[in-house]
Amino acid sequence: MIIALDGPAASGKGTLARRLAEAFNLAYLDTGSLYRATGVATLRAGGDPANEADAVRSAKALDITTFSPSDLRTEAAGVAASQVAFIPAVRAALLDFQRNFSKNPPGGKAGAVLDGRDIGTVVCPDADIKIFVEADLETRVKRRVKELQEKPGNTIEARVVRADMEARDARDKDRSVAPLKPANDAFTLDTSNMTADEAFAQAKAHIEKKLKR
Ligand code: C5P
Repeated sequence: MIIALDGPAASGKGTLARRLAEAFNLAYLDTGSLYRATGVATLRAGGDPANEADAVRSAKALDITTFSPSDLRTEAAGVAASQVAFIPAVRAALLDFQRNFSKNPPGGKAGAVLDGRDIGTVVCPDADIKIFVEADLETRVKRRVKELQEKPGNTIEARVVRADMEARDARDKDRSVAPLKPANDAFTLDTSNMTADEAFAQAKAHIEKKLKR
């Protein structure tokens, strides 16, 4: 079974994906981490994430095991990720890894949950379940600020988070290749007024209903 979860930053798809993977005993891939790692690797090499040659070199040489979650979950990594993700050759370089993960999930699991922006539309168009997770901008800004405030020494302001998120949403939606949009056959889940438990319960109920058909 393949479950594709797409949606904008801080919509709640990462938390939901992890919980669904656990509940259905599936492998989990956070595809945003591949773009984040490509962005961070490009910056570390002294390159520009918006430059095609620099970004493609990093994507082709990517070794995801050399990054810790704290390297990847910064605001700067998110911005660099959306810059490299805009470049079609970077997306092409990361596609095989994602498809291979979905078809041959690690750990002997019978399937996989992948979350990102283009899983239901491009990476796994034949996924058994497709969920598009949304939330309004204000809710997403509040969630991201809370997440960042939980990190020691973080001083980032809400207005900076909002500006970054708006720029990132626009880049993700307007790009020519694999833009952020719901697949035609996706179930939309708006989590603006939901707790993580409520979002999980609704997604699980949707999956169970589809599996019974
Ligand atoms: O999901 P996350 O916020 O970690 O993703 C970081 C960035 O990576 C996104 O803003 C988007 O530009 C890019 N991305 C993508 N396609 C995916 C996953 C992430 O373009 N499947």
